[in-house]
Amino acid sequence: MLSAKVEFCTHVIVRAGELIMEGFGQARDIQMKGPQDYLTEFDGRCEKFLREAVAHAYPEDGFFGEEGGGVDAPRLWVVDPIDGTANFARNIPHFCVAIAYVENGRAEFGAIYNPVLKELHFARRGQGASLNGKAIRVSGVESPQAATIEFGWSSRIEKRDYLETMSGLLDLGLNVRRAGSGALGLAYVADGRNEAYAERHMNAWDCMAGLLMVEEAGGRVCSFEGSEKILRGGPVLASVPGLAEPISQIAGIPLA
Ligand code: IPD
Ligand code: CA
Repeated sequence: MLSAKVEFCTHVIVRAGELIMEGFGQARDIQMKGPQDYLTEFDGRCEKFLREAVAHAYPEDGFFGEEGGGVDAPRLWVVDPIDGTANFARNIPHFCVAIAYVENGRAEFGAIYNPVLKELHFARRGQGASLNGKAIRVSGVESPQAATIEFGWSSRIEKRDYLETMSGLLDLGLNVRRAGSGALGLAYVADGRNEAYAERHMNAWDCMAGLLMVEEAGGRVCSFEGSEKILRGGPVLASVPGLAEPISQIAGIPLA
Protein backbone atom coordinates (compact mmCIF):
# COMPACT_ATOMS: atom_id res chain seq x y z
CA MET A 1 0.00 0.00 0.00
CA LEU A 2 2.70 2.50 1.03
CA SER A 3 4.91 1.25 -1.82
CA ALA A 4 2.23 2.20 -4.34
CA LYS A 5 2.11 5.69 -2.81
CA VAL A 6 5.91 5.92 -3.02
CA GLU A 7 5.79 5.04 -6.71
CA PHE A 8 2.99 7.55 -7.31
CA CYS A 9 4.95 10.27 -5.45
CA THR A 10 8.25 9.80 -7.28
CA HIS A 11 6.42 9.81 -10.62
CA VAL A 12 4.19 12.80 -9.96
CA ILE A 13 6.96 14.98 -8.49
CA VAL A 14 9.00 14.66 -11.70
CA ARG A 15 5.89 15.62 -13.73
CA ALA A 16 5.43 18.63 -11.42
CA GLY A 17 9.07 19.59 -11.97
CA GLU A 18 8.56 19.46 -15.74
CA LEU A 19 5.56 21.73 -15.35
CA ILE A 20 7.48 24.43 -13.47
CA MET A 21 10.36 24.24 -15.95
CA GLU A 22 7.89 25.60 -18.56
CA GLY A 23 7.97 28.86 -16.58
CA PHE A 24 11.66 28.97 -15.65
CA GLY A 25 13.63 31.76 -17.30
CA GLN A 26 10.53 33.74 -18.22
CA ALA A 27 9.96 36.26 -15.44
CA ARG A 28 6.26 37.10 -15.71
CA ASP A 29 3.26 37.42 -13.43
CA ILE A 30 5.42 37.84 -10.34
CA GLN A 31 3.58 39.01 -7.23
CA MET A 32 4.61 39.59 -3.62
CA LYS A 33 2.69 37.76 -0.87
CA GLY A 34 4.59 39.86 1.71
CA PRO A 35 8.07 41.30 2.28
CA GLN A 36 10.63 39.14 0.40
CA ASP A 37 7.90 36.55 -0.24
CA TYR A 38 7.52 35.91 -3.97
CA LEU A 39 4.66 34.26 -5.83
CA THR A 40 4.58 33.29 -9.50
CA GLU A 41 1.76 31.83 -11.57
CA PHE A 42 3.70 28.54 -11.60
CA ASP A 43 3.43 28.09 -7.81
CA GLY A 44 -0.34 27.99 -8.19
CA ARG A 45 -0.33 25.91 -11.37
CA CYS A 46 2.02 23.31 -9.91
CA GLU A 47 0.07 23.04 -6.65
CA LYS A 48 -3.21 22.65 -8.59
CA PHE A 49 -1.65 19.85 -10.65
CA LEU A 50 -0.45 18.01 -7.52
CA ARG A 51 -3.68 18.61 -5.58
CA GLU A 52 -5.70 17.14 -8.44
CA ALA A 53 -3.32 14.20 -8.92
CA VAL A 54 -3.53 13.26 -5.22
CA ALA A 55 -7.33 13.74 -5.13
CA HIS A 56 -7.66 11.45 -8.14
CA ALA A 57 -5.28 8.71 -6.94
CA TYR A 58 -6.05 8.87 -3.19
CA PRO A 59 -9.39 10.63 -2.67
CA GLU A 60 -9.49 9.55 0.97
CA ASP A 61 -6.19 11.34 1.81
CA GLY A 62 -5.83 15.00 2.87
CA PHE A 63 -3.70 17.61 1.10
CA PHE A 64 -1.88 20.57 2.69
CA GLY A 65 -0.09 22.92 0.30
CA GLU A 66 1.77 26.20 0.56
CA GLU A 67 -0.57 28.10 -1.73
CA GLY A 68 -3.99 26.57 -1.05
CA GLY A 69 -3.58 25.46 2.57
CA GLY A 70 -5.68 22.59 3.92
CA VAL A 71 -6.43 20.85 7.19
CA ASP A 72 -4.65 18.09 9.07
CA ALA A 73 -5.75 14.52 8.33
CA PRO A 74 -4.60 11.04 9.44
CA ARG A 75 -3.07 10.53 5.98
CA LEU A 76 -1.80 13.82 4.59
CA TRP A 77 0.22 14.98 1.57
CA VAL A 78 2.24 18.05 2.57
CA VAL A 79 3.35 19.89 -0.57
CA ASP A 80 5.50 22.84 -1.57
CA PRO A 81 4.89 23.36 -5.30
CA ILE A 82 8.02 25.52 -5.65
CA ASP A 83 10.46 25.90 -2.78
CA GLY A 84 12.90 28.68 -3.58
CA THR A 85 10.29 30.76 -5.40
CA ALA A 86 12.43 33.92 -5.16
CA ASN A 87 15.23 32.05 -6.96
CA PHE A 88 12.79 30.68 -9.56
CA ALA A 89 11.33 34.13 -10.22
CA ARG A 90 14.78 35.66 -10.68
CA ASN A 91 16.21 32.97 -12.97
CA ILE A 92 18.43 31.35 -10.35
CA PRO A 93 18.43 27.57 -10.90
CA HIS A 94 18.11 26.58 -7.23
CA PHE A 95 14.52 25.57 -6.48
CA CYS A 96 12.53 22.37 -6.16
CA VAL A 97 9.21 20.65 -5.61
CA ALA A 98 8.87 19.06 -2.14
CA ILE A 99 6.37 16.42 -1.04
CA ALA A 100 6.07 14.73 2.36
CA TYR A 101 3.58 11.94 2.98
CA VAL A 102 2.50 12.11 6.62
CA GLU A 103 0.56 9.53 8.64
CA ASN A 104 -0.85 10.50 12.02
CA GLY A 105 1.38 13.56 12.18
CA ARG A 106 4.65 11.84 11.25
CA ALA A 107 6.41 11.84 7.86
CA GLU A 108 6.57 8.32 6.37
CA PHE A 109 8.31 9.25 3.11
CA GLY A 110 9.47 12.39 1.40
CA ALA A 111 10.69 13.53 -2.01
CA ILE A 112 12.50 16.67 -3.14
CA TYR A 113 13.02 17.25 -6.87
CA ASN A 114 15.24 19.88 -8.49
CA PRO A 115 14.06 19.89 -12.12
CA VAL A 116 17.05 21.91 -13.38
CA LEU A 117 19.60 19.32 -12.27
CA LYS A 118 17.08 16.47 -12.51
CA GLU A 119 17.99 15.48 -8.96
CA LEU A 120 15.46 13.47 -6.97
CA HIS A 121 16.19 13.11 -3.26
CA PHE A 122 14.00 10.52 -1.58
CA ALA A 123 13.65 8.95 1.86
CA ARG A 124 11.31 6.42 3.40
CA ARG A 125 11.17 5.92 7.17
CA GLY A 126 13.41 3.04 8.21
CA GLN A 127 14.65 2.44 4.67
CA GLY A 128 17.34 5.09 4.15
CA ALA A 129 17.72 8.05 1.82
CA SER A 130 18.76 8.27 -1.81
CA LEU A 131 19.67 10.65 -4.61
CA ASN A 132 18.49 9.46 -8.02
CA GLY A 133 18.22 5.96 -6.59
CA LYS A 134 21.71 5.86 -5.04
CA ALA A 135 21.99 5.64 -1.24
CA ILE A 136 23.24 8.83 0.46
CA ARG A 137 24.79 9.53 3.88
CA VAL A 138 25.52 12.75 5.73
CA SER A 139 29.05 14.14 5.50
CA GLY A 140 31.79 12.82 7.77
CA VAL A 141 33.13 16.31 8.54
CA GLU A 142 33.18 17.01 12.29
CA SER A 143 35.46 20.03 12.57
CA PRO A 144 33.45 23.28 12.58
CA GLN A 145 36.35 24.94 10.74
CA ALA A 146 35.73 22.67 7.74
CA ALA A 147 31.94 22.63 7.98
CA THR A 148 29.17 24.59 6.29
CA ILE A 149 25.73 25.34 7.68
CA GLU A 150 22.85 26.81 5.73
CA PHE A 151 21.03 29.19 8.05
CA GLY A 152 17.63 30.01 6.59
CA TRP A 153 15.90 33.34 6.91
CA SER A 154 12.44 34.71 6.24
CA SER A 155 10.67 37.93 7.23
CA ARG A 156 8.84 35.84 9.87
CA ILE A 157 11.99 36.09 12.00
CA GLU A 158 13.15 38.95 14.26
CA LYS A 159 16.34 40.56 12.94
CA ARG A 160 18.06 40.52 16.35
CA ASP A 161 17.31 36.85 16.83
CA TYR A 162 18.74 36.01 13.39
CA LEU A 163 21.88 38.08 13.84
CA GLU A 164 22.63 36.71 17.34
CA THR A 165 22.41 33.13 16.12
CA MET A 166 24.44 33.96 13.01
CA SER A 167 27.13 35.49 15.22
CA GLY A 168 27.28 32.33 17.38
CA LEU A 169 27.53 30.08 14.33
CA LEU A 170 30.42 32.16 12.95
CA ASP A 171 32.13 32.12 16.37
CA LEU A 172 31.95 28.32 16.33
CA GLY A 173 33.95 28.47 13.10
CA LEU A 174 31.26 27.44 10.64
CA ASN A 175 30.90 28.75 7.11
CA VAL A 176 27.35 30.15 7.02
CA ARG A 177 25.39 30.34 3.78
CA ARG A 178 21.86 30.91 2.65
CA ALA A 179 20.82 29.65 -0.76
CA GLY A 180 17.07 30.38 -0.71
CA SER A 181 15.47 26.92 -0.75
CA GLY A 182 15.06 25.38 2.68
CA ALA A 183 13.95 22.05 1.23
CA LEU A 184 17.07 21.77 -0.95
CA GLY A 185 19.17 22.99 2.00
CA LEU A 186 17.97 20.00 4.03
CA ALA A 187 18.45 17.59 1.11
CA TYR A 188 22.03 18.88 0.85
CA VAL A 189 22.66 17.91 4.48
CA ALA A 190 21.37 14.42 3.72
CA ASP A 191 23.73 14.00 0.76
CA GLY A 192 26.77 15.56 2.45
CA ARG A 193 26.99 18.83 0.49
CA ASN A 194 26.38 20.79 3.74
CA GLU A 195 26.94 19.69 7.33
CA ALA A 196 23.84 21.36 8.80
CA TYR A 197 20.68 23.36 8.19
CA ALA A 198 18.94 25.59 10.72
CA GLU A 199 16.06 28.04 10.56
CA ARG A 200 14.11 29.70 13.38
CA HIS A 201 10.75 29.12 11.69
CA MET A 202 9.82 26.94 8.75
CA ASN A 203 6.51 25.73 7.48
CA ALA A 204 5.77 22.01 7.24
CA TRP A 205 5.82 22.02 3.41
CA ASP A 206 9.39 23.36 3.44
CA CYS A 207 10.91 20.92 5.92
CA MET A 208 9.06 17.64 6.56
CA ALA A 209 10.49 15.77 3.57
CA GLY A 210 14.02 17.07 4.17
CA LEU A 211 14.07 16.34 7.91
CA LEU A 212 13.17 12.70 7.23
CA MET A 213 15.91 12.60 4.59
CA VAL A 214 18.57 13.80 7.03
CA GLU A 215 17.39 11.36 9.71
CA GLU A 216 17.48 8.46 7.25
CA ALA A 217 20.92 9.54 5.99
CA GLY A 218 22.39 9.28 9.50
CA GLY A 219 22.04 12.87 10.74
CA ARG A 220 20.38 14.30 13.83
CA VAL A 221 17.26 16.43 13.61
CA CYS A 222 14.76 18.34 15.74
CA SER A 223 11.34 16.83 16.24
CA PHE A 224 8.70 18.02 13.76
CA GLU A 225 5.54 15.99 14.38
CA GLY A 226 1.88 16.56 15.12
CA SER A 227 -0.91 18.89 14.06
CA GLU A 228 0.43 22.03 15.70
CA LYS A 229 3.78 21.84 13.85
CA ILE A 230 2.13 20.81 10.59
CA LEU A 231 -0.37 23.66 10.60
CA ARG A 232 1.77 26.45 12.13
CA GLY A 233 5.37 25.40 11.49
CA GLY A 234 8.25 25.63 13.93
CA PRO A 235 12.03 25.80 14.32
CA VAL A 236 14.15 23.45 12.24
CA LEU A 237 17.56 21.91 12.81
CA ALA A 238 19.33 19.10 10.97
CA SER A 239 23.00 18.28 11.33
CA VAL A 240 25.76 15.73 11.10
CA PRO A 241 25.92 14.01 14.52
CA GLY A 242 29.26 15.53 15.51
CA LEU A 243 28.08 19.14 15.23
CA ALA A 244 24.45 18.75 16.29
CA GLU A 245 24.85 19.56 20.00
CA PRO A 246 26.81 22.83 19.69
CA ILE A 247 24.59 24.07 16.85
CA SER A 248 21.48 23.16 18.83
CA GLN A 249 22.76 25.20 21.78
CA ILE A 250 23.69 28.23 19.69
CA ALA A 251 20.43 28.22 17.75
CA GLY A 252 18.32 27.36 20.79
CA ILE A 253 16.60 24.60 18.81
CA PRO A 254 16.31 21.29 20.70
CA LEU A 255 17.24 17.99 19.04
CA ALA A 256 14.76 15.10 19.08
C1 IPD B 1 11.14 29.77 1.57
C2 IPD B 1 12.49 29.18 1.27
C3 IPD B 1 13.55 29.84 2.11
C4 IPD B 1 13.27 29.61 3.59
C5 IPD B 1 11.89 30.17 3.93
C6 IPD B 1 10.82 29.58 3.02
P1 IPD B 1 9.52 29.68 -0.59
O1 IPD B 1 10.11 29.12 0.83
O2 IPD B 1 12.52 27.80 1.53
O3 IPD B 1 14.81 29.28 1.85
O4 IPD B 1 14.26 30.25 4.33
O5 IPD B 1 11.58 29.83 5.26
O6 IPD B 1 9.58 30.21 3.31
O7 IPD B 1 8.88 30.99 -0.28
O8 IPD B 1 10.67 29.81 -1.53
O9 IPD B 1 8.53 28.64 -0.97
CA1 CA C 1 8.68 27.03 0.51
